[in-house]
Amino acid sequence: MYSTFTYLALLLSSSLARSISIPHRNTARTTAHYAQLDPPLNTNWTDDVGTNPWPEYPRPRLRRDQWQTLNGIWQYQNASSPNDVYNPPFGQDLAQEVLIPSCLESGLSGIQGTNVIYSWFKTNLTVPSDWSGQDVILNFGAVDYEATVFVNGKNATFHRGGYFEFSVDITPFLDSSGSNELLIFVHDPTDLNGYVIPIGKQRLIPSAHIFYTPCSGIWQSVWIEPAPANYVTQLDLTADMHGQVNVTVHSSYGNGTAVNVTVVDGNDVVGSGTGVSDQAFQFNVSDPKLWSPNSPTLYNVTVTMGDDSFQSYTGFRTISKGTVDGVVRPLVNGKFDFIFGTLDQGYWPDGIYTPPSLDAMVYDLKFLKDLGFNMVRKHIKIEPALWYRACDEMGLLVIQDMPSLRPLENVLPDDGQQQEFGRQLDLLVNQLKSYTCIFTWVVYNEGWGQITTYYPEFDLTARVQQLDPTRLVDATSGWHDHGAGDFSDNHHYANPQCGTPFYSIDSTPYDPKRIGMQGEFGGLGNNVSIDHLWNNQQAINSINQTYEIDTDIDAWNHRSHLLLSELQDQISRYACSVAVWTQTVDVEGEVNGLMTYDRRLKRVDEDQWKKDIKGLYDAASNRTNSTSS
Ligand SMILES: *[C@@H]1O[C@H](CO)[C@@H](O)[C@H](O)[C@H]1NC(C)=O
Ligand SMILES: *[C@@H]1O[C@H](CO)[C@@H](O)[C@H](O)[C@H]1NC(C)=O
Ligand SMILES: *[C@@H]1O[C@H](CO)[C@@H](O)[C@H](O)[C@H]1NC(C)=O
Ligand SMILES: *[C@@H]1O[C@H](CO)[C@@H](O)[C@H](O)[C@H]1NC(C)=O
Ligand SMILES: *[C@@H]1O[C@H](CO)[C@@H](O)[C@H](O)[C@H]1NC(C)=O
Ligand SMILES: *[C@@H]1O[C@H](CO)[C@@H](O)[C@H](O)[C@H]1NC(C)=O
Ligand SMILES: *[C@@H]1O[C@H](CO)[C@@H](O)[C@H](O)[C@H]1NC(C)=O
Ligand SMILES: *[C@@H]1O[C@H](CO)[C@@H](O)[C@H](O)[C@H]1NC(C)=O
Ligand SMILES: *[C@@H]1O[C@H](CO)[C@@H](O)[C@H](O)[C@H]1NC(C)=O
Ligand SMILES: *[C@@H]1O[C@H](CO)[C@@H](O)[C@H](O)[C@H]1NC(C)=O
Ligand SMILES: *[C@@H]1O[C@H](CO)[C@@H](O)[C@H](O)[C@H]1NC(C)=O
Ligand SMILES: *[C@@H]1O[C@H](CO)[C@@H](O)[C@H](O)[C@H]1NC(C)=O
Repeated sequence: MYSTFTYLALLLSSSLARSISIPHRNTARTTAHYAQLDPPLNTNWTDDVGTNPWPEYPRPRLRRDQWQTLNGIWQYQNASSPNDVYNPPFGQDLAQEVLIPSCLESGLSGIQGTNVIYSWFKTNLTVPSDWSGQDVILNFGAVDYEATVFVNGKNATFHRGGYFEFSVDITPFLDSSGSNELLIFVHDPTDLNGYVIPIGKQRLIPSAHIFYTPCSGIWQSVWIEPAPANYVTQLDLTADMHGQVNVTVHSSYGNGTAVNVTVVDGNDVVGSGTGVSDQAFQFNVSDPKLWSPNSPTLYNVTVTMGDDSFQSYTGFRTISKGTVDGVVRPLVNGKFDFIFGTLDQGYWPDGIYTPPSLDAMVYDLKFLKDLGFNMVRKHIKIEPALWYRACDEMGLLVIQDMPSLRPLENVLPDDGQQQEFGRQLDLLVNQLKSYTCIFTWVVYNEGWGQITTYYPEFDLTARVQQLDPTRLVDATSGWHDHGAGDFSDNHHYANPQCGTPFYSIDSTPYDPKRIGMQGEFGGLGNNVSIDHLWNNQQAINSINQTYEIDTDIDAWNHRSHLLLSELQDQISRYACSVAVWTQTVDVEGEVNGLMTYDRRLKRVDEDQWKKDIKGLYDAASNRTNSTSS
């Protein structure tokens, strides 16, 4: 809600600026106050977001004791050209206020903009006095798509890639007097002509039923923390089923500082190892309690490097593949269990890419875990770090997709764009490879952005395996499969064809040298009343494009039961090891969720689904039992 006065002032100043083109540097502005705008659909959490969102420490694997969130109300102003970055509005108030973190297109942002390509963001930061003598690190969870960060008028850093965390030591730019101006220029072209960049499902103009509203700007937490000048910039830490811990502590100096890593159970140190920064070293913990979906045990970890120290955590487990009774299977701690999850887009009607709160985000995961899923496929999006932490705690394996390029053949990447795709794939793997829950990486989804004049998935798969030899790689989930990676992954709607001797147009036959997987199936639609729908005409018009519409919820559950029975039959008879049901919740014009987009209506008959899901695990373990006994 604007006050009448500021609203008029804003109207006047912007219409004046348009008619006589006063350079914004000289325009006196009155900043319009923040108010949440009504999204086309809200959730139970929308009203509780307030103006201090996401108060939790955002990076659970590298948790320093002292920190200060910068989340809250910032100033915002639309910009119109790439050249605006060379004319920053230092020392001036911007036209509007915005909630950080948020997507500018969301109701929560207070902007709910469309076509936001260039933007300015501004806040003041004050460094707590008890941090004196230490450096100050500024951290971003993610900014979509490019950010130029100015601190007190100086260009502190630039970052490209809409899904990745980045940090900068801002000590040299700080003002000793106390208040500091943080100004950020953001450029987010999404799918504007000429751009072929990782965007997942975002489209400037949402279309069909599968392309959604985009997210622009600072959509994850921003915070500062004190650290010594030689501080830890990244912790790579994995722990296997034999108790071996493999650590690389990356430092800002990069030149070999002493490191001590201890693994703690309650108050007891159960193992520790020492080495130097920027080089891998190993140590053993004897007889650790293993992590698995059924028993997600985690251990706390303390890391010290020189004068820096922080808390982390890990789980002991090994992901591999092996032949069990003649079938290539994925193994967790050396054992095959059927792996079943949902396609999880991570979209919210009020926040778009930014969940309204941690509670909301965890609600979806708990819902899946309670139904009996042991996995979730994070579909062409990357979540805030706390999402992976929640999967680690709850025991949900994660199949993590690389955010896709655009799907059409005529917008395949050129050489430079392909290189950038590869660079961001490296960022993805390095950012997430130390979470216990990560099970498999997906490089390409359904051929989107996949060049076919040569087969880039082979090199990209090798690159992922080199960065992370402890996980499996699904090189092509659906469509253009030329034999790369660990999976033979079919997509088929509505019914599954998982590791089967039958297949349909657009899919490739099951390849017994790799793991049989149904990367997507289900997708059963069921329209609901307008109070649970994304109230946008384009989206409503696309509902009928859903693969299958069931006219009532009983029919939807009956069809679900039939499809899950077919899947169970394929597990019993053939070589089906992993399957992904489309999808966790409705998204915009897609009405095929286990729940509606607002999470208020569950389509699933919970008793029936729990039984059917248990039937899948039993079918797999029956096979192993009958042949091994
Ligand atoms: C920002 O400006 C562009 C053109 O300069 C316009 O198309 C767009 O609607 C504006 N966005 C907002 C949120 O004001
Ligand atoms: C920063 O502080 C100055 C001085 O108190 C104030 O005029 C300005 O509006 C503040 N800017 C923001 C973005 O809060
Ligand atoms: C800011 O600095 C980065 C290097 O960190 C550089 O790539 C970028 O061009 C600079 N931007 C401006 C506007 O000076
Ligand atoms: C430890 O991890 C590094 C990469 O971080 C890898 O190169 C190395 O092979 C691993 N060592 C062991 C013993 O697993
Ligand atoms: C490590 O790098 C820092 C910063 O560049 C430098 O001051 C220090 O002397 C280096 N230490 C060694 C042992 O090379
Ligand atoms: C590493 O830290 C642990 C726990 O504080 C301690 O027991 C151990 O002696 C330390 N190791 C070295 C080499 O400093
Ligand atoms: C890890 O530390 C947290 C507090 O930071 C504590 O609540 C938890 O119980 C610890 N877990 C283990 C396994 O030691
Ligand atoms: C850890 O244990 C393995 C055997 O499981 C052994 O090969 C390795 O040398 C041990 N590593 C260390 C650092 O003690
Ligand atoms: C979708 O199809 C149904 C059944 O044919 C029809 O009643 C409805 O009007 C259609 N909706 C749209 C938006 O086309
Ligand atoms: C939303 O609130 C309603 C009314 O309090 C409640 O019945 C429902 O369970 C809530 N749903 C979720 C997802 O929290
Ligand atoms: C298979 O054998 C294991 C171990 O004996 C048992 O826990 C499991 O319940 C059996 N599975 C079925 C479906 O009978
Ligand atoms: C598993 O085997 C048991 C015992 O043969 C049988 O009763 C049960 O129906 C089977 N379950 C599945 C899901 O195949």
